[in-house]
Amino acid sequence: MNPADIASWISDAQKAFSAASDLDQLKVARLAHTGDKAPISLASRSLGTLSPEEKASAGKLIGDAKAAIAEALASATDKLEASRDAKVLLEEVVDITLPVQRTHRGGLHPISIIKNEISDFFIEQGYAVEEGPELESGWLNFDALNIPADHPARTMQDTFFIEPVESGVVLRTHTSPVQIRTMLTQEPPIYVICPGRTFRADELDATHSPVFHQVEGLVVDKGITMAHLKGTLDNFARHMFGPDVTTRLRPSFFPFTEPSAEVDIFFNNRWIEWGGCGMVNPKVLATCGIDTDVYSGFAFGMGLERTLMVRHGITDMHDIVEGDLRFTRQFGVGL
Ligand code: FA5
Ligand code: MG
Repeated sequence: MNPADIASWISDAQKAFSAASDLDQLKVARLAHTGDKAPISLASRSLGTLSPEEKASAGKLIGDAKAAIAEALASATDKLEASRDAKVLLEEVVDITLPVQRTHRGGLHPISIIKNEISDFFIEQGYAVEEGPELESGWLNFDALNIPADHPARTMQDTFFIEPVESGVVLRTHTSPVQIRTMLTQEPPIYVICPGRTFRADELDATHSPVFHQVEGLVVDKGITMAHLKGTLDNFARHMFGPDVTTRLRPSFFPFTEPSAEVDIFFNNRWIEWGGCGMVNPKVLATCGIDTDVYSGFAFGMGLERTLMVRHGITDMHDIVEGDLRFTRQFGVGL
């Protein structure tokens, strides 16, 4: 039990522990220097063979040596555990400065958004939403609306006819045939809004499109007057353009309303034509089997593109129809 040997076991162990570069290597060194076959362990086990005097002094030497080796092991363990933790933190770090992945999830076209907005506004007041087909019979698109074949109004709206032309089928030129469909199938009181796609042989330019949208309103009830029409249009206009908007009815002509008017709005310091309106022509009510002694009604029809353009200062129809996402996204997703 040579003190010099014991000192070298301590320094061998200290060197081996501090040479370990990770916890796995430290484990190997720990087994070699503190395990069953380590010199210090063998010496410790041989203490029993010594005489009592020798045992006392050797026991102290070995006890101190074990403490020194344990201390070296503990400090090496602390150091390697700390560096392992630091490495894990570094490897698993989330770089919050990286740009996010901007995947556009899609959304509604501004025409759909405004259509839903208008429908919601009228639904809140008890109106129902009705839709009709885009391919419509000439009778519903024209004749039932008091626009006979030789009526000049029929040329006012340039129509896409479907072959064979004798079929009489057209791409509807307005949403007004949905009025007829509703009155033919429902009994008054009728309060409906009819948004939808409409078609005319117009060139695409800054303010026209061959495919566009209208929203029709129709009310048939007892005692309906032009005052109800004006009040409804005022509310509608304020909802669409803000509380300060002013409306004006300007005398006009539609075969299916009598009297008829254009509804203009005063917005951004000028008068703008918003749509057509009037009291439902009693001839039209009669065609639909409604008793004109009991019931009267009003109707109106607005262009949705026109509404969107006026409200948002859009100066070119191309922006609405071309589907450029840089335009569309300005209106939000609308979902
Ligand atoms: C009509 O279509 C009538 N049916 C409206 C109506 C309904 C009157 C109920 C009375 C009672 P008009 O042809 O003026 O009316 O068209 C209405 C609106 O549709 C216009 O004010 C305009 O905003 C829009 N519009 C018409 N043609 C086009 C087009 N080519 N492109 C975009 N919008 C159009
Ligand atoms: Mg017009």
